Amino acid sequence: MFHSKLDPFPTDFLWGAASAAYQVEGAWDADGKGPSIWDTYSQIAGNTFEETNGKIAIDHYHRYKEDVALMKQMGLKAYRFSVAWSRILPEGEGAVNEAGLRFYEDLVDELLAHDIEPVLTLYHWDLPQGLQDRYQGWESRQTAEAFENYCRILFERLGEKVTYWVTMNEQNVFTALGYRWGAHPPGIKDLKRMYAANHIINIANAKAIHLFHEMVPQGKIGPSFGYGPMYPFSCDPEDVLAAENGEAFNNAWFLDVYCKGQYPKFVYKQLAKLGIAPEVTLEDQQLMKQAKPDFLGINYYHGGTAQQNQFQKQQTAKKEFSKVDPYLMQATSDALAPEENMFATAENPMLKKTDWGWEIDPVGFRVALRRIQANYDLPIFVTENGLGALDQLSDCQIHDSYRIDYLQEHLLELQKAITDGVDMIGYCAWSFTDLLSWLNGYQKRYGFVYVDRDNQQEKQLARIPKDSFYWYQEVIRTNGASLLQNEK
Ligand code: BG6
Repeated sequence: MFHSKLDPFPTDFLWGAASAAYQVEGAWDADGKGPSIWDTYSQIAGNTFEETNGKIAIDHYHRYKEDVALMKQMGLKAYRFSVAWSRILPEGEGAVNEAGLRFYEDLVDELLAHDIEPVLTLYHWDLPQGLQDRYQGWESRQTAEAFENYCRILFERLGEKVTYWVTMNEQNVFTALGYRWGAHPPGIKDLKRMYAANHIINIANAKAIHLFHEMVPQGKIGPSFGYGPMYPFSCDPEDVLAAENGEAFNNAWFLDVYCKGQYPKFVYKQLAKLGIAPEVTLEDQQLMKQAKPDFLGINYYHGGTAQQNQFQKQQTAKKEFSKVDPYLMQATSDALAPEENMFATAENPMLKKTDWGWEIDPVGFRVALRRIQANYDLPIFVTENGLGALDQLSDCQIHDSYRIDYLQEHLLELQKAITDGVDMIGYCAWSFTDLLSWLNGYQKRYGFVYVDRDNQQEKQLARIPKDSFYWYQEVIRTNGASLLQNEK
């Protein structure tokens, strides 16, 4: 679709920025907070980059007023943050820690007093350690129940003040890193356990949405999904099929459950053949069907490219009928790659990459938004998008023109998607301030506001607005009109 003129951004468009509790708050054991799996995991040598952790992070817990004042100065319309479950319930369940709850109520009040819409994420990866120890975390249905109770406490306390709620942040990412690659807590490498945990997280998500609709009928709730559109490597129909498989395996596997209340059939069948599909009860099916989100949160960084895998290629080339069931063969030869039967990934030669090797693909952003709109027909809230880079402080300034370019290009594609007909609520850049990158410490920076600390030292944690801060300020002030002016 080509547009000679782009539609303006909606007048109530929520221009925002985002963060997550463990990555910014610090105060890891203050005022009765219990440990999370990340507090524990980051204590073990070798688990994180240069042993970085969130004990102090950028001390947002104690400096939130200063941070909100900066948001106001920028003109931010929305701020997405997450609640640390173990601040509210130190053990994950049981007695409520009033001081923890009060912190979030104070933060919400501070935002509202500055006309900033709070966007509250209920789960951004920091499961209470108590639940991991007692129930094996997300591998048990008791954790889904504990999540529902935790949500009830927040809905009761903040339901009248907060309109936008996010259930799970990037379920696809935290289950893969935590249960497949062993790179996040609980550090497991077991696909069967991953799919079982993922199913219980789906149950937890559905329970939370269901409860929310009962308790906060005027509010809006949805998960935030890390969406990456899949491209075929070539126009070879086999590559096209591989890309469709990639979409199903990477994206529909999660999004269909959220939005249609059921697992996509093709993927489920493959997993069942490998003996790693989750067990789904009738009750689960009913619950998943009932709990439809009001919007979809989308985190977009990049997509992927798929091609027919080598194994399939040989099969096609030889045109032989193999008596060996390829699925079972795969299961025994490489149980860690169920998608091998469906697609292989390839480098996309058309795209540049970030300092960390992530593809930069603004058009893919538009593709993503359109595909989601077409498949699920829900309003979309972009809850993350941004550039991780090595920023250099010179003369108390950060000239991050590369970040401005990145955001400018992505926002223009978002405007094109709006013009195409995508229903958009808002856009939260990742991130407002610099923060702790889970596995890359404090050197991989995303913020509009530089925070003067490094991996080893907290220093004074001074906040220094970058060039991108002033650029985004102008984007917000003009409700996006400056994006097109910048192009001229
Ligand atoms: C998203 C997460 O996956 O990506 C954020 O929701 C994270 O919490 C962001 O920080 C960027 O990832 P990274 O690894 O570059 O810090």
